[in-house]
Amino acid sequence: MINNISERGRFITLEGTEGVGKSTNMAFIENWIRDKGIELVVTREPGGTELGEKLRALLLDAKETAMCADTELLLMFAARAQHLQQLIIPALEAGKWVLCDRFTDATYAYQGGGRGIDMQRIAELEQWVQGDLRPDITLILDMPVEEGLKRAGQRSAPDRFELEKQDFFRKVRQAYLDRAAANPQRYRVIDASPGIEQVQSSIETVLESL
Ligand code: TMP
Repeated sequence: MINNISERGRFITLEGTEGVGKSTNMAFIENWIRDKGIELVVTREPGGTELGEKLRALLLDAKETAMCADTELLLMFAARAQHLQQLIIPALEAGKWVLCDRFTDATYAYQGGGRGIDMQRIAELEQWVQGDLRPDITLILDMPVEEGLKRAGQRSAPDRFELEKQDFFRKVRQAYLDRAAANPQRYRVIDASPGIEQVQSSIETVLESL
């Protein structure tokens, strides 16, 4: 595990419910950091490694209707263990910054908030798999669930999570907001409802502070 936090690169994660504009803003953040001449690794969860991407395919497969919540939780952490050991930790130790599209906050939000798994069990897995490693900053793109689903609905065939009902995503959103409220130092909640320029200007302000 990583010990010397002062010398390692920054670890930034981006979160949000469906349709909040994560992909567009990931690209914006990536360009902003690269423009500063910082070496950056861009990755995503679940996934980010060859094995992790196979687990992602399983986790998102809409045909996997029998998958129980604990299996889903453990597969998320299995992919994460691989991701940390193979990609994230080596990059941070080499002084590179890591920008990750979703991380463990998504587990608290989706498996904890959405599926109702005890947050304490998630915290135990987090400690086991990550040790003390946590993102330095987590941006949460936030908007009302109905609005996000309307935007997301214009895309291709829904995956296993996108098939969930509004009520599921309301719980996911609430779990994100609760986590942000409990630890305002690490989280920045960005209102993703206004136009893209306004959203990106809010993101820029957060990045400047890093
Ligand atoms: P997306 O990031 O491309 O939207 O797809 C990933 C999906 O996986 C998304 O619906 C959220 C879900 N997910 C979890 O349920 N738990 C997790 O820990 C992670 C990383 C993602």
